[in-house]
Amino acid sequence: MQKRKIKKRYIPASETLTEFDLRVLDFQNQGFLVPTRQLIKTPEQIEGIRRSGKINTGVLDLIAQEIRAGMSTAEIDRLVYDYTTDHGAIPAPLNYEGFPKSVCTSINEVVCHGIPSEDEILEEGDIINVDVSTILDGYYSDASRMFVIGKTDPDRERLVRVAKECLEIGAEAAKPWHFVGEIGKAIARHAHKNGFSVVRDLCGHGVGLEFHEEPEVEHYDTRHKGMLLVPGMVFTIEPMINMGTWEVFVDEEDGWTVVSEDELPSAQWEHTFLMTEDGVEVLTY
Ligand code: MF3
Ligand code: CO
Repeated sequence: MQKRKIKKRYIPASETLTEFDLRVLDFQNQGFLVPTRQLIKTPEQIEGIRRSGKINTGVLDLIAQEIRAGMSTAEIDRLVYDYTTDHGAIPAPLNYEGFPKSVCTSINEVVCHGIPSEDEILEEGDIINVDVSTILDGYYSDASRMFVIGKTDPDRERLVRVAKECLEIGAEAAKPWHFVGEIGKAIARHAHKNGFSVVRDLCGHGVGLEFHEEPEVEHYDTRHKGMLLVPGMVFTIEPMINMGTWEVFVDEEDGWTVVSEDELPSAQWEHTFLMTEDGVEVLTY
């Protein structure tokens, strides 16, 4: 009989196997997708990502203070660039795969990857996602928040709130020695219960030594387990929740801006998380 071939992804650091190694290898031998050892951060790397996350949070706190009706998204971009570089860090989006600015600003029906512009002026009632990513000493962090400009209508208000709850519920579903697929299942349940949909074309991701690492963190129920989550892994959860259909398109003109297919509003919140022995810890508070 043919033996099923097991993909060897996890390579222990030394020949003397630790309890941790044995635990991962046991999952690997059962045929589950396990992380490579590069995805499991050392304490020093975790400290680096944590420091990066502190600056990232500082940027978002600054935007929270400054954002207002009448402001252009280009002004937000300048604030992000100046704060980040003043703190010895680099805005990760700038020149990333040709992205032209330091931050993504996504208003109303824009799902994500909106490009800041002098011509785009925030108006009363807008909901905007500001997605900030920072590189400090080579370590990456990534987080985004929604801001409501003045007062918006109750539907948008609820969308913003439910999207935040989706992030929190997704984070609670992320458990060590369980699978990444639990996250999307929990998020989708909450979004659907509230009459909203979950974007499928974009996902969360491992982060830390690069902007986007394994695993992919889906925000809907893929019906697959996905990768095993173990302590030391660092990843984002960043559900994009739509008021109407989950389908999206990319603006042909700029090649970046992702918009909901029916052009109904969309909301997203994101944090970078560290997996610990008993659940996730937020690295971008
Ligand atoms: N910040 C986004 C994320 O959450 C990535 C944006 S890529 C960029 O993964 F080039 F648009 F900045
Ligand atoms: Co991200």
